[in-house]
Amino acid sequence: MSTPLNTQIAFITGGNRGLGLETARQLGKLGILPVIGARSEQAGLDAVAKLKADGVTAESIVFDATKPADRARAVDFFQARAGRLDILVNNAGVYLEGEPGVSRPYTASTLPEKVLRDTMETNFFAPVALTQALLPLLKKAPAGRIVNLASILGSLTLHSDPTSPIYEMKSAAYDTSKTALNAFTVQLAFELKGSSVKVNSAHPGWVHTEMGGASAPMNVEDGAKTSVRLATLPAEGPSGGFFHMGDALPW
Ligand SMILES: NC(=O)c1ccc[n+]([C@@H]2O[C@H](COP(=O)([O-])OP(=O)(O)OC[C@H]3O[C@@H](n4cnc5c(N)ncnc54)[C@H](OP(=O)(O)O)[C@@H]3O)[C@@H](O)[C@H]2O)c1
Repeated sequence: MSTPLNTQIAFITGGNRGLGLETARQLGKLGILPVIGARSEQAGLDAVAKLKADGVTAESIVFDATKPADRARAVDFFQARAGRLDILVNNAGVYLEGEPGVSRPYTASTLPEKVLRDTMETNFFAPVALTQALLPLLKKAPAGRIVNLASILGSLTLHSDPTSPIYEMKSAAYDTSKTALNAFTVQLAFELKGSSVKVNSAHPGWVHTEMGGASAPMNVEDGAKTSVRLATLPAEGPSGGFFHMGDALPW
């Protein structure tokens, strides 16, 4: 039997720093219990302490998105903690191709297979597997919400338009992983039609985090807003879309 929990409960992968930590903070400020997935126990505890200092009650679990055993443990945790999961934010991600907007070590023709596989593992296969594993618990929530942290760099429409602002910003592995994640959003939303669970892709903006780098123009507070908005969509909100703030982006 699980312990009754009177608040909504959210799982934020990669929640120990950057956009994930700020998303946890903003969800916590809304009265939702954020559970942070962190690869090291200490990083999770440090993040929980930071949130506590800001008046937010959070919890953490050890979670490496690429490890099947960690995904299974996450399912067990939410089953035992709440018997459901209200919000899943697939936020953990890697960028293995230098610093966005600064260095570009590979092109599509020189990309090492390992960089592509490692990027796809964390940014695509892991969130797909985690979502599949947690879906039964999301369906038990009154209004399950899944947010896939994609990127505008996953937009094929914008990448193939010479007039678009991202046309020159090609990162072959990262962009491909986010395009694939967007495809999963569309596939899953189709399957979830008529259910209480919504799934959407988010582009947070180009945000000043370790991944975004020092040149990024957006702060983390604004960067987390898209994830929070999609995590808390009302019943009449969209599913199967790709958004930045309130605006739809082209696939
Ligand atoms: N920043 C941007 O401009 C930007 C733009 C578009 C999209 N995004 C997306 O937004 C998400 C968050 O980005 P961010 O800027 O906050 O990145 P970040 O500062 O680099 O943080 C990444 C987080 O993901 C975690 N992580 C990486 N690999 C993991 C794994 N295998 N298992 C579990 N956690 C893992 C990291 O954990 P450790 O601390 O253990 O490394 C960290 O907590 C990513 O999916 C990213 O692609 C970011």
